[in-house]
Amino acid sequence: MEVARDIASLQKAVGEARAGGLRVGLVPTMGALHAGHLSLVSEALRATEYVVVSIFVNPTQFGPSEDFDAYPRPEESDLAACNDVGVDLVFAPSVDQVYPGAIATTIHVAGLSDTLCGPHRPGHFDGVATVVAKLFNLVRPDVAFFGRKDAQQLAIIRRMGADLNFPVAVEGCPTVREADGLALSSRNAYLSTDERARAIALHDALAAARDRIRAGTRNAAPLVREMASIVQKSRPTAVDYISAVDPDSLRPIDTIEGPVLLALAVRYGKTRLIDNVLVDPTERG
Ligand code: PAF
Repeated sequence: MEVARDIASLQKAVGEARAGGLRVGLVPTMGALHAGHLSLVSEALRATEYVVVSIFVNPTQFGPSEDFDAYPRPEESDLAACNDVGVDLVFAPSVDQVYPGAIATTIHVAGLSDTLCGPHRPGHFDGVATVVAKLFNLVRPDVAFFGRKDAQQLAIIRRMGADLNFPVAVEGCPTVREADGLALSSRNAYLSTDERARAIALHDALAAARDRIRAGTRNAAPLVREMASIVQKSRPTAVDYISAVDPDSLRPIDTIEGPVLLALAVRYGKTRLIDNVLVDPTERG
């Protein structure tokens, strides 16, 4: 496995792979790799012939009071994990490589960025869209792999790719969960034992609403109320949102007539957790 720390080495290695006729897969990450990231990597290894993992804690997607400095950066174990599963190249640039100076151009995906997590994390999705556009231009992958746990991020990246004609197929991969249902996230490491136990409420709330849809409920309001009541019992520090939205437009749904994305963001102490499920009302539980 090669590790590229600068753009020239990245482009040399990927250029050689592409010249050899290999299809290039990209898994963009901020490191602190867990089984969720590794499931994206295994999908990339299955679907493409030369797999690049980027590890870059992107400063422009963190707000001033967010955890950029504290964000875990266990580089040695991340590189070992990539090597063990057969990644071809890790791109682990410094901030200066990616942002050699102030940038005047940012990408804002209107509408999709302004709902759900958007109002609670001003500028976050512009930072994500801009760095992903940079990574697409630097790596020029055939396929890029993202987790469905970040459903809003995935919708934004798909829309950006379509609107700006990026020649990249964007693949959404299933959320990986702990045995009790908690979605894997690098931020789970911040939870105390007590907060970790309470955080299962996110999954419990989504599962209860999904079961009610499968049992025939079509009115979104009581579902959202039931999710809120389950979450409230876990004594959250704050609830940013609990919503039933259209999976493509992310607009709230009143009556469920097709697939619905149930999504929520809840804080325990200083840790903000998100989770979601996509429910097809035609599927019976
Ligand atoms: O999902 C993440 O880890 C980040 O938002 C991403 C896509 C790597 C961009 O920094």
